[in-house]
Amino acid sequence: MTQRYARITGWGKYVPARRLTNYDLEQIVDTTDEWITSHTGIRERRIAEPNETTVDMALHASRIALERAQVQPEELDLIIFATSSPDYFVPAAASLLQNRLGAAGVPAFDLSAGCTGSIYALVTATQFVQTGAYRRVLVVGAEKISAGIDYTDRNTAIMFGDGAGALMLEASNSPTGLLSFELGSDGALWDALYCPGGGSANPFSEKVLANREQYLRMDGKRVFKFTAKTVTRSIQNVVESSGLPFSEIDYMVPHQSNVRIIELLTSRLKFDPDKVMVNLDRYGNTSAAAIPMALADAADQGKIAEGDHIVLAGFGAGMTWGTAVIHWEPTKPSEEQAILVENWPIREALQLQANKVRAAVWSAQVTARTKAQEASMSVMVPFYTWQRKRKKAKAQQDEENTDQQQG
Ligand code: COA
Repeated sequence: MTQRYARITGWGKYVPARRLTNYDLEQIVDTTDEWITSHTGIRERRIAEPNETTVDMALHASRIALERAQVQPEELDLIIFATSSPDYFVPAAASLLQNRLGAAGVPAFDLSAGCTGSIYALVTATQFVQTGAYRRVLVVGAEKISAGIDYTDRNTAIMFGDGAGALMLEASNSPTGLLSFELGSDGALWDALYCPGGGSANPFSEKVLANREQYLRMDGKRVFKFTAKTVTRSIQNVVESSGLPFSEIDYMVPHQSNVRIIELLTSRLKFDPDKVMVNLDRYGNTSAAAIPMALADAADQGKIAEGDHIVLAGFGAGMTWGTAVIHWEPTKPSEEQAILVENWPIREALQLQANKVRAAVWSAQVTARTKAQEASMSVMVPFYTWQRKRKKAKAQQDEENTDQQQG
């Protein structure tokens, strides 16, 4: 089978209108703009309205990505939704999005890998395209993380914000999209960034609420140490496995949590800081939405161009990490339309299977009909024979009776 790739053909970003600045936070918790800016680089973040949900934001970003790729919702083959703040525990946010998009019947599922979720989703989506199972997959990262933040805890209150990002992936014959990746998880660090209450280990109760256990807790120093060690090495690994020299990497889009982490990665890798996307000053850490949002900003602001090789580097709760080298070439060559629409081997294979099923059904019908006919004949043939004999006997009897009357 021809090697398939998953071209990134569309991207979209959405953030709520309401801004929460460092000065606003000074009024809420014991902190200062100076401390937040110098320790994190964040100046403000967006906060969704009480009636605005994660799926509402995902819908906006997804529509922009679909529009850009010129894909109709009903043409989608799969939706993967990375989030840690779904609208409900049950059902998946992906199903709500699928319904709101009007993508009737399209398979959809949520993916939970903390802030690394969108990289896990991009890698997962690419596997579906590369195996030939699906042609068009929508990857979404969206979070209303503010719903899980304790605004009396300055540790987390300063860091997180809400938003959504979406990427459209379409099958391609040319080597583009995801070129190499590394995913990882170190569950020994599960409690470095976690939410103690509300899950099956500690279901909602008055105690959970009284102890504010429904909110996110973070050990910033452990997270920082883990990231500095793991992510630098992971970036080196994925660039190496992509087969590209580091000099061929045009741009880097790291997870947006703290500018100090980004600066550390950049300096350890001796990478040009001007080629690194930073938008956390305006949005804070939007968890699984951060990388697709930053990639969308980089594209919209002309920081990345057709043909660029880009490193994406995510890390988050788990602790998880996910690093990828992508080739950015969103313009679909015209001959690729044919791959997407007609000459699609999987479509042919499915057609073949459908024909086989139809043939098997037809043959089963013929067999059943034949058997039924045989069964009915085994009863009817003796009956007809008996009836014929009876008629013959009766006719004979009638003939004898007539002869007697005449005689
Ligand atoms: N405002 C003002 N002061 C604060 C503060 C805040 N929001 N948070 C902590 N402080 C104080 C501390 O009490 C401490 O004071 P002290 O020296 O008098 O004891 C001082 O600032 C330094 O605190 P510390 O915890 O050592 O800060 P830090 O340099 O480690 O920075 C983080 C804290 C959270 C910014 C940093 O650890 C970090 O960014 N970690 C990674 C987090 C992350 O990326 N999370 C998302 C993962 S997806």
